[in-house]
Amino acid sequence: MVRLRNPALAALGSLLAAHNALSIVFAPILGTDRPFPAGGSIAVDQPPNYFFQGFSPPFPTNDGWIGYGAGTGDATKGAITFFAGKALGVSTSATVSAAKFQVVNSTGTYVIYSLSGVISLTASNTGTITAGGKFTGILRVVKLNAPGHEVLLDQYYANYPTGVSTDYEISGLITGILYFESLRVHENHRSKLQSPNFPSTTSLSYLTTKGYMYPAIGNIWNLCYDLPTITWHVLRTPDASCRASLVAGLEYEIAHLPAVAQPGDFYFFGGHVAMVSRLALIAEQVGRNDLVSPVVNYLESMFGYLFNSASTAVPAYETAWGGIINRAGYNNI
Ligand SMILES: *[C@@H]1O[C@H](CO)[C@@H](O)[C@H](O)[C@H]1NC(C)=O
Repeated sequence: MVRLRNPALAALGSLLAAHNALSIVFAPILGTDRPFPAGGSIAVDQPPNYFFQGFSPPFPTNDGWIGYGAGTGDATKGAITFFAGKALGVSTSATVSAAKFQVVNSTGTYVIYSLSGVISLTASNTGTITAGGKFTGILRVVKLNAPGHEVLLDQYYANYPTGVSTDYEISGLITGILYFESLRVHENHRSKLQSPNFPSTTSLSYLTTKGYMYPAIGNIWNLCYDLPTITWHVLRTPDASCRASLVAGLEYEIAHLPAVAQPGDFYFFGGHVAMVSRLALIAEQVGRNDLVSPVVNYLESMFGYLFNSASTAVPAYETAWGGIINRAGYNNI
């Protein structure tokens, strides 16, 4: 069994070649250094607000954050009906000093934990919670889906990831193990986790678009996967009687590729180059390597536009949130 780290990629390349498999291996992400794409740098017109004050990009951008992290940040302001055990009637508020607070609104029950001692918070029925003073420390907020979940949350609320490192190991090209270190989150890879420490599924759960997520406790997680047997070529060679028609179709397609033109956007560009790339693979499969290079030349010319700052659809680094976007669409959600 070979434990692969990044410098071993060259060795892996020859290993794969020996198995006659054409593959690309992606190394772990080594850094979050700022890239310099052809489109240069640009800032969106919805930059992060005070929510991320004191932090630097890249920031998470998804539906869960955006209402808080951009614009005025007051995405939700439904009435708070209970705060730290006190009922909040219309137009009332309550001030409580504690290190743990339950908050109930029409969506459900939430728990705020202070990992930095007792703090004073004032909740108003109108939907705001304000601190009694400047707070420097760690707050954690969690949704309490069932009263029975509180036991596990109380036990582990102080545990959270501050960093992660990943690694992987390939054994006989049949199984791959992905390593996560220093990670403590709930996960949905239960069937792949080696030697897991799973609390009962009734102790905590969250419904996501991928089904329920249940807790797993541990500092080092090894996920073991059976690797797919997919190769770039078809698994069954086309019947000999089809070869002449296949070659004729291929010759026609390659001779009639649309003119190389700069992409109008990323989406259709991606579909188009994927389709053209496939022609080269078909040519290889039917033993017409002479038809491969016109396709490769075509793809090189097409991809050239993505590296030319004069192109319309060109990647740019977005400086406010930190990430790669289509420069032309910087203010277009
Ligand atoms: C209830 O509070 C949670 C946590 O702050 C918030 O995400 C949710 O939108 C609130 N619901 C309403 C109706 O305000």
